[in-house]
Amino acid sequence: MSEKLWGGRFTSSQSDDLEKLNLSIHIDKELYAEDIKGSKAYAKSLASINLLNQEEYASICDGLDKVKLEWDSGTFLIKKGDEDIHTANERRLKEIIGDPATKLHVGRSRNDQVVTDMKLWLRSKLHDLSNLIVELITAMINRSATEIDVVMPGYTHLQRAQPVRWSHWLLSHAWALKHDADRMQTIKRDVDVMPLGSGALAGNPFQIDRNALAESLGFTSVTQNSMHAVADRDFVVNFLFWCSLVGVHLSRLAEDLIIFGTKEFEYVTIHDAFSTGSSLMPQKRNPDSLELIRGIGGSLFGQCCSFMLTLKGLPSTYNKDLQSDKETMFSTFEKLRSILKVATGTITSLKLNDDKCKNGLSFEMLATDVAYYLVKKKVPFRKAHHIAGQVVATAENKQKSIADMTVDELKSISQEFDSDIGKIWNYEHSVEQYQVTGGTSKDSVLHQIQILSLWIKEQ
Ligand code: ARG
Repeated sequence: MSEKLWGGRFTSSQSDDLEKLNLSIHIDKELYAEDIKGSKAYAKSLASINLLNQEEYASICDGLDKVKLEWDSGTFLIKKGDEDIHTANERRLKEIIGDPATKLHVGRSRNDQVVTDMKLWLRSKLHDLSNLIVELITAMINRSATEIDVVMPGYTHLQRAQPVRWSHWLLSHAWALKHDADRMQTIKRDVDVMPLGSGALAGNPFQIDRNALAESLGFTSVTQNSMHAVADRDFVVNFLFWCSLVGVHLSRLAEDLIIFGTKEFEYVTIHDAFSTGSSLMPQKRNPDSLELIRGIGGSLFGQCCSFMLTLKGLPSTYNKDLQSDKETMFSTFEKLRSILKVATGTITSLKLNDDKCKNGLSFEMLATDVAYYLVKKKVPFRKAHHIAGQVVATAENKQKSIADMTVDELKSISQEFDSDIGKIWNYEHSVEQYQVTGGTSKDSVLHQIQILSLWIKEQ
């Protein structure tokens, strides 16, 4: 009781089991620097309205710096009764500077304190994640530029569809990540609004200058409703959802590469550094890097769902259910950070087997080009599609490739065929037809590289 900051009205001690369950210091100590930063700024506000004199203010700042040094150097001693980072820092501050420490919390509550700390923390971590995404996209751009001449099968329904440039495939994943990076702006907007000064739920009764406080902490505005401010974890949900979506994108990239890396495809070879072996089968090289990305990608969404379920049933303002927000936010950040790093390493180091990509192509993948050939001879597309289908079926019956059909055989299907059909049996020619913006021709892919590179420069 007496050892607790809130122990005044209690006459019996807390159950050991509840005390254990209620503790969050082992998790929220991650916020020690933000908590101290917030406290120093808050002390300044209190000094400017004479709730602290200059001496007390200086002593609090000095004491908080000392507490921070202890955390920085790993010498901070967590004691029984240190429920969370806020109470631990305040307890230690009092041990170091004595009485002035007891004036710091006036008008403030852990309810506005914790959410301010979390926003400060998330702001710097968003920066880290955005750098990691930029690194991954840069790795993709670099490969796309140097390997632009490699043509491989493109798939729909995992069935061979049309030839595409390897770079076009790789950039398809880069674009998804670029849009993720753009969408991060909405989280940045959320975390830029300062909740401090909302008290437990009703606001701050001492006329502190919240705008000045926000400015000193680097926020651009302040929350407009204290009850909303202490209850609001939408910025956490936004962040968790955002991470889940990046996880989905990384997972799809991983899934493609797992398939491309099998012996059946072998378009790529995952580097030893990003593979693992089997304890039983000596020949195995497994793409665990990619499987972990795929697995963790799914668990991110699990964490997002679970936190939304926590929020759903809560009445207004702060409820202790919210304490789990930090564990989810920290672990989601750490998971995404790790898989982004592994994705960049895997993409940078993998070997592209251009001969296998070429072998994966077959002339049947040019059946669409046969239809387009006829369209250019003024055959309506539906009819041209039907004729091209007949060409495929006839070649199949004759057990030969469609490219080996003679002009006479083709003419027996449609009179529109001529000897110039020969020029379509060329994969390079096929991909070069797609000159449109967003297509797979060389110029279109170079254009994508140019736009993405410009975007990288702006980051
Ligand atoms: N450790 C708490 C949390 O992280 C801080 C807020 C506690 N507020 C309260 N009124 N019990 O959610």
